[in-house]
Amino acid sequence: MDDELLLDPAERLDRDELLALQLDRLKSTLRLAYDHVELYRRKFDAAGVTPADCRSLADLARFPFTTKEDLREAYPFGMFAVPMSEVRRLHASSGTTGLPTVVGYTEDDLSMWADVVARSIRAAGGRPGHKVHVAYGYGLFTGGLGAHYGAERAGCTVIPASGGMTARQVRLIQDFRPEIIMVTPSYMLTLLDEFERQGVDPRGTSLRVGIFGAEPWTEGMRSEIEQRFGIDAVDIYGLSEVIGPGVAQECVETKDGLHIWEDHFYPEVVDPFTDEVLAEGDSGELVFTSLTKQAMPVVRYRTRDLTRLLPGTARPAFRRMEKVTGRCDDMIILRGVNVFPSQIEEIVLRTPGVAPHFRIELTRRGRLDHMAVFAEADRSAAAGPDHRPAAAAAIAQGIKDGVGLTVDVTVVDPETLERSVGKIQRVRDLRAKN
Ligand code: DLL
Repeated sequence: MDDELLLDPAERLDRDELLALQLDRLKSTLRLAYDHVELYRRKFDAAGVTPADCRSLADLARFPFTTKEDLREAYPFGMFAVPMSEVRRLHASSGTTGLPTVVGYTEDDLSMWADVVARSIRAAGGRPGHKVHVAYGYGLFTGGLGAHYGAERAGCTVIPASGGMTARQVRLIQDFRPEIIMVTPSYMLTLLDEFERQGVDPRGTSLRVGIFGAEPWTEGMRSEIEQRFGIDAVDIYGLSEVIGPGVAQECVETKDGLHIWEDHFYPEVVDPFTDEVLAEGDSGELVFTSLTKQAMPVVRYRTRDLTRLLPGTARPAFRRMEKVTGRCDDMIILRGVNVFPSQIEEIVLRTPGVAPHFRIELTRRGRLDHMAVFAEADRSAAAGPDHRPAAAAAIAQGIKDGVGLTVDVTVVDPETLERSVGKIQRVRDLRAKN
């Protein structure tokens, strides 16, 4: 979008300088956690470690992991390392079961968060003076407000649209002429339908870049969105427990995975079964330790997200993480075969005559688990009712060849599957109820 790179001082560090900064910050974080959060003190004591045992970054492996269950146990404010009077904001992530996870921010935390989101927006090609349409939900979810303050910090003009009221979003995009949109990829598809419904050419808008995250999305989805809107689509990653959006960001000039803003968030990838720390390049579960957070430091937090670490490219000091295409808990195990919804997404997206909308339903027939995939016909001639059985057969064959599973596929009428307004839920698991 603009040739000139606007970089933070931290983005200009060389790798050794960054490593020294990380160690320094890691020691302070462990100290803060141990001295001020009872749960960490208990867990460190049980593991026989104290903050003084951390003399190198590798020593972090001796410290215990933190899980979502730990955060639930401390509900609502037990993980906070500062008095409540210093907590300026709360967010919460609902999760699918049980209590929400509550996170808190001091004023400095909010400022750091705005900085990393601003840095992310610049990496995506955003520049001061650009207008940013934020269609992530505002509220307890970190997407809306996280994007909002980051865009302001980047010197952009924010349009705080939030999620929903889809017809109005299309109107706002036409009238206010934003260069950038920040939204979940699934809601971007909902907007695409609405553009088409209103007879507005989605390629003719002012939009030039979309910054998409909060849910897994594939390379197939990237090409679909880029072509249909005529924009660059880049990936933003984050989670509430670590800060919110802005933990890692893909650079628009390379689109080769997400640079982790390692001056604030220290990543590890571990084997989800043995807990062993894996080498760069090996796939496993992503784990984060915050390096500068005050209100709620996290030590070795298990994200459940699956990826691998790679060396830096566009920002050489910062390692990259490969696009997250699944979570440990998203993995469907069907008749002994492991499958992620993202694998189904790739297959649906490359099938002609089918729109990029699909759902997966899991049921039990007798003693066998069964998967049904519902995909939606698009409005092209190739998608007429006569062609649907062939499209369904092509998807079923793709799943058989690519994943090794026999599944039922139905191609349904256009615009019959429920649309996303935020994070999409693609899998309906009805097995327990059968
Ligand atoms: O989803 C924060 C966020 C908002 C990120 C807006 C990006 C944009 P949570 O609601 O706590 O926070 O959900 C975090 O969402 O552990 C991943 O499983 C998933 N996730 C987030 N970003 C991506 C992404 C926000 N780019 C959980 N790709 C994470 C794949 C993502 N999954």
